[in-house]
Amino acid sequence: VGVAVGAAQAQDYPTRNITMIVPFAAGGPTDQTLGQSIIIENVVGAGGTTASARAAKAAPDGYTLITGHMGTHAASVPLYPKLAYHPSKDFEPVGLIAGTPILILARKDFPAKDLKEFVAYLKANTDKLNEAHAGVGSVSYSSCQLLDAVLKISPTGVPFNGTGPAMNALVGGQVDYMCDQIVNAVPQVKGGTIKAYALNAALVKALDDEGVKKRLLDLGSVIPKPAERTPESLKTLVDSEITKWSGVLKPLSN
Ligand code: MLT
Repeated sequence: VGVAVGAAQAQDYPTRNITMIVPFAAGGPTDQTLGQSIIIENVVGAGGTTASARAAKAAPDGYTLITGHMGTHAASVPLYPKLAYHPSKDFEPVGLIAGTPILILARKDFPAKDLKEFVAYLKANTDKLNEAHAGVGSVSYSSCQLLDAVLKISPTGVPFNGTGPAMNALVGGQVDYMCDQIVNAVPQVKGGTIKAYALNAALVKALDDEGVKKRLLDLGSVIPKPAERTPESLKTLVDSEITKWSGVLKPLSN
């Protein structure tokens, strides 16, 4: 998860309300990382690219921010040939908020007790399975695309406006599995309403954490080291993620 913003030059910034655009539905991982004193606008659609296009066109005065992430600011480039913005050229980076491991999650009655059984079940039942995601280009979409490519399977994708609503469908058993950021999954895994199959070490660490840590840490995110918090470092990360995901994701036809 990162943040990009139009450049703010004034010494006394900010002198008025700031608008923070969240590219997914309320209640998902991107939404949960925001502060309190700004106006939040959830602008959903097209895997977060609708919101990002709007933010890219906003006045570059520092009063419109966006919480971008690997999906909106990297995977979108290879996936959308007509993308209305360039993630590193059309935004002024502020800094990296957090790194969030991705978990493979399934409905609580999914018939596989561990990752090995999960993989075998997916391969044997791919035609019957529904995979939830937050729209083409989202983190949940791209992460599961990677999983599906490795397993050589093609389940039916079920898009939502964010992994907040996708998680509700998983808890309700309307979809079979999804790949989601750990911050969204920990409360549900703790409550036993869904199953988690991967990134055990990170999950256990998150579940065992009883100290007075920041909420992000409690939920399993990785707080960036000081050297990773600078605007320059975020720009370098965005460029390297675009290169990385361009090797994995194929362009959509539209
Ligand atoms: C969300 O906030 O809903 C997620 O970050 C969506 C995603 O990219 O999977």
